[in-house]
Order: sequence, then C-alpha cells, then structure tokens
Amino acid sequence: MVYEVPGRVREGAATPVSSMDRYREHYAKAANDPNQFWLDVTKSRIHWRKEPTEGLRGSFSTIQDGPLCWFADGELNITESCLDQHLESRGDKVAILWEGNEPGENRRITYRELHGMVCQAANALRELGLKKGERAIIYMGMVPEAAVAMLACARLGAIHSVVFGGFSADALADRIRDCGAELVITQDFAYRGKKQIPLKATVDDAVQAAPSVKKVLCVKRTGGEVAWDGNRDVWWHEAVDAASTEHAAEIVDAEHPLFILYTSGSTGRPKGVVHTSGGYITYTAYTHATVFDLREDDVYGCVADIGWITGHSYIVYGPLANGATSLMFEALPTYPDAGRYWDMVERLKISIFYTAPTAIRALAAQGDEFVTKYDRSSLRVLGTVGEPINPEAWEWYHRVVGDGGCNIVDTFWQTETGGIVISPIAPATPTKPGSATFPMPGIFPVLKTAEGQTVRGPGDGLLCMEHPWPGQARTVWGDHPRFVATYFDMMPGHYFTGDGCRRDEDGYHWITGRVDDVINVSGHRMGTAEFESALVSAEEVAEAAVVGFPHEIKGQGVYAYVVAQPGQTIDVGSLNGTVRSQIGAVAKVDKFQVVPGLPKTRSGKVMRRILRKIAEGRGNELGDVSTLADPTVVDTIRDGFQGTA
Ligand code: WTA
Repeated sequence: MVYEVPGRVREGAATPVSSMDRYREHYAKAANDPNQFWLDVTKSRIHWRKEPTEGLRGSFSTIQDGPLCWFADGELNITESCLDQHLESRGDKVAILWEGNEPGENRRITYRELHGMVCQAANALRELGLKKGERAIIYMGMVPEAAVAMLACARLGAIHSVVFGGFSADALADRIRDCGAELVITQDFAYRGKKQIPLKATVDDAVQAAPSVKKVLCVKRTGGEVAWDGNRDVWWHEAVDAASTEHAAEIVDAEHPLFILYTSGSTGRPKGVVHTSGGYITYTAYTHATVFDLREDDVYGCVADIGWITGHSYIVYGPLANGATSLMFEALPTYPDAGRYWDMVERLKISIFYTAPTAIRALAAQGDEFVTKYDRSSLRVLGTVGEPINPEAWEWYHRVVGDGGCNIVDTFWQTETGGIVISPIAPATPTKPGSATFPMPGIFPVLKTAEGQTVRGPGDGLLCMEHPWPGQARTVWGDHPRFVATYFDMMPGHYFTGDGCRRDEDGYHWITGRVDDVINVSGHRMGTAEFESALVSAEEVAEAAVVGFPHEIKGQGVYAYVVAQPGQTIDVGSLNGTVRSQIGAVAKVDKFQVVPGLPKTRSGKVMRRILRKIAEGRGNELGDVSTLADPTVVDTIRDGFQGTA
C-alpha cells in the first residue's frame, strides 16, 4: 500500500525538495554533475573561510591508494557553521533544548550562549594541553556539556571520539589506546531513569590500562562521590566556567579529521571510523534539512544518544549547522512511564521526532493510552533509524503517534555513511510501510549478487554504493588497508554496506538486514566476534559462536553456543557477567546453549549458517550438512535448541 500523506503544511522556509518532481530534478542534477551539485550545496549552507573550488578527488577504484577527498582546497572550522554563522540572525534562538532525567527539568541554551560555552570549553581544553590533531575521548551521558565538549574539540581542530556510556572500562581502555588519547572528558555519574551510572569510576578503571591519558575533565552532574586524582583530574566547572567566552576557531583543511567513532564489524575489534570536516558537515546539514523538511520554527527532537552516529549527525552537527532547535534527552523512553516521549512532545511542542524501531515496538506494546493522553498536534514529521522497521510498528507510529497526519521517514544509513543515504523526503515521497524508499540525491545504490553481478530492476541483492558522497567515512583510524578490505574489496569499485536489500517493481528499497556477522540489537550494532572473544576469555569456555535470532522488541537477540573446556562445566548464569565486564552493559546474551562441539567444515571453519538457522528455530531447514567434519554434532545442537520465545 502506498500512502500519499500530505503532511501538515506550515509557513516557513521552503524545503529544498518539496515534491517528487523536485526530488527527480535534484537527483538528476547530482547524477549529471556531482561535483557542482555538492559545491552548490556546501556554499549555500556551510561557512567556509576559504571556499572550495574542487569537488571530489579520488574514487572507489583508487581507494586503496589513500582516502578520498571532498572540497580539498577549502578551509573552515565547522563550529563556525554550527555557531558563529547563526549569531546575527539566530543569536537568541534556542540551539539546545535539554530535557533532563526528570520530566520538565529543562535547559534552553541559545545559539549565543552555546557559542560562549563552546569558546570557554575550547579555551579550557587548550589550557589542559589539547592541540590540533590530538584525540580526546568523551565518555558522557546526555548532558549539554557533552555536545559542548564535542564542539570545543572541533573548535581546536582536535579529534573527538565519543564512547557510549554503556561500554565497560575494558572497552573504553581499548578505544583510548587505539587512538592514543591523552584527554578524557566525563562526568561523575549519569542519570538513567532510576539508576545512576558511575562514569567517572569507569574512566578511573580504564585509565589504569591506558597510560596515554594525562588529564580527565569531569562534569559534576549528580554530585555523587567520586575518587579524585589531584594531578590528573580537573572539574569542568572550575576549568571551563572561568575561561574566556571568546575563542578564535582553528581553521583547518576540509579533510582534517573531525572525529573517530568506534563501530562493530564482522571481524576483530571495533574499528575507529574516521569522519572529516567539510564533507561531513555539508552532508549532515543537507540531509537533515531535506529529509525532515526543516522549517525555521521547528522544534526538532532526536532521542538517540551522542555515543552513536545518530547523535553526532542528527543531534549535534546537522541540526546546529542548520540553526535548528535540537533536543537533548537525558532519560529513558519508559521513565517515569511509557508516556515520556509524548509528554515531552506536548510540553516542548516538538514538531519533528526521530527515534528507533525498537523503541516504537516497546512503546506500542504498552498500549495506546500512553500516547493518546498527550497532545501531539505539534508533530509534523516522524523519523526512524537503526534497523528495519516492521510494517506493524510503522503503522502504529503513523496511526497512533502521528494521528494519521504526519510524514514517516524511515531513514537508512550507517556510521560509515555519515548521514542518511536512503530515505523518504518529507513531505514529498509517497511511502510504503517498511520501505526506506529512495536514495538521497548524490547516492547511487546498486544491488549485487554474491558473484558481483548487478541486479537490474526488481530483485534482491547486496546493497552497494557506486559513487562517493561528501559525508562518507574516509578511513579507519591508523589502518587504511582495513578500511579498504572491509568496505571495498568485496565489490571492487563499490562501497559495500554489509546489508541486504530488495528493490520492488516501483523502485522502492527495502533493507533486509545485515548479511555479515553483525547483529543489530535494539538498533545497537554488535559484532559477533566481540561477544565470542569475551566468552572464550572465561576460563571454563573452550569455544563460542554467537549469532542473531529474531526478537519481537529488540529486532534481533543474541544467541550464544558455548563449548566447555575438557573436564569443566559451564554455569551460563555467570557468563553474562564476563560479557558485561568486557564489552559493557550494552551487551547481553539472551540465550545460551552449552554444546559438545561446534559444527565445522573439515578445514575447521565454523558453519555459522547452520547455527543461525537453529537459533532462528529453523533447525529442520538446514540443507546439506555432509561437508561437516562431524555431522552428528548438528543433531545434538538441534535437540538442545533453547527456543526463541
Ligand atoms: C541498520 C545507524 C534498516 C543497517 C545510523 C545498517 C537500518 C546498520 C536502518 C548501521 C533502516 C540503520 N532500515 N536497517 N532505516 N538504519 N539500519 O552504524 O543494518 O549504528 O547497516 O548506524 O543499522 O548501524 P549504525
């Protein structure tokens, strides 16, 4: 079924793509002359100190020789686009609308105030020794200072790496070591509903294993007691509040790295995905304004966490570059109850709301009353991101949350794409529930068979992209060959997303999920390899294999097969403790199955396909298992299947 949702048209600046005809025009323009298209976009939105004259340098076919460049001869500091350029016209407009843990606990930070706060923080960070090109880790909850810290690093030309507060000390230490950070910015505790998360204590632990860290800057959020190292630790309110509110931004080249964000892949440790300045800010600003049909008086609310790419691109960088009012939400969707989002929509008059399918499914399960008792007439556009949205959840979002009158934008993208790449554009694109619809202008998706054949017209395939775009990741920190091997070796000349996709007879794209060993749990991307390495670190575990299985609320759950060391028994109850300490509270195995051995080929390769099928409850559809070294192990595993309820 195709919805032709008219949307609630309001006065305001015209959206760049207001109809399907305009979309086709823009798409054709970007296809015919991508360089000119993106140069026009960046000049109209981004404040350059030296305007670029060049679009793309490099290509997917030459990527092994070094990272791509966009706007290579341009110079800027992206915080001038996010802050300084708005001072005259929007100085008193709210930039960050913060809703704290308790309903109604708000801070409204104007563009002028935010500019002053970022300058102060930049001055303080410089005092602490942070210089252009150096790395700082940000390990915080959703407090305004987290966004200020990101922008302050960018103001200095330093490179931030935000680590989600749900990662453990081990995971944090890994990331600090990988990027060689000397500074960590954190807070005493983070509120999370009824809980308080001891972030500073975790940093203290991590730093033991990451001796590069010289300073820890700490925001006082709860006032709870923390250990203090007088030589290393500095309070934010002491260092930052005393600093000058003026700071001349460090002007950098367009390709200067802006941030590193660690993300999970099929193999090995998380990769430090690197995004650079000019292209990233151009792409996030453009897609944010376009997809959401941004108007000057919008109150834009994305309820992601800044620890993930969505928080970077669509809470901080895109919205601020566009001069929008952007929500930062500290609590949980279910605190104090399942009506929290809609209570917030009513009180703060949110007009664009952006969340994940997992939250929609969880809230829908609580019943409509939590939604309908609040006034949601301010809403105009409803977005989702992070995982495929099932049509039932889509319908509920549209019918109940949006009262049938809002545009739904199911936005497909990834940490590596920097911004939205396939999505409806509100209010232009007629939508189909569950489909991310069409590519953004400048994005050229191609479906490939496993053999590398291009699928034309309707069909299923591996989702690849044919031509570079400004917002895409440039490399993996310190390991360009790994970047090339992960994304470009599989389909030479193309970027490979790791996702499967179906294109229907109307040309709509339906993302079918990861085709690699990444599992998407509640919209969080987890690597099976990370789980496995955590599990085998337990003394009693000899081998482990982890796969995903369909989960009603989380999208996917985590299913672990574990093999005991000879002579030992496994108490699965304790294994999640090991996972938690190695990866963090964000990671949890839903089902364990102790097995006598893993199904392996004669050459010793674990047949994950079989394990996946069994975990999905499709153990009777295994097909040919005769190539296994010991086919009987499959029967034992199938008999011990833990169910997926
Ligand atoms: C999945 C999040 C279907 C996909 C921005 C992708 C989606 C991974 C969608 C990236 C969507 C994200 N429909 N699947 N609208 N959005 N995904 O890097 O599998 O945390 O590869 O970036 O999430 O997750 P990441």
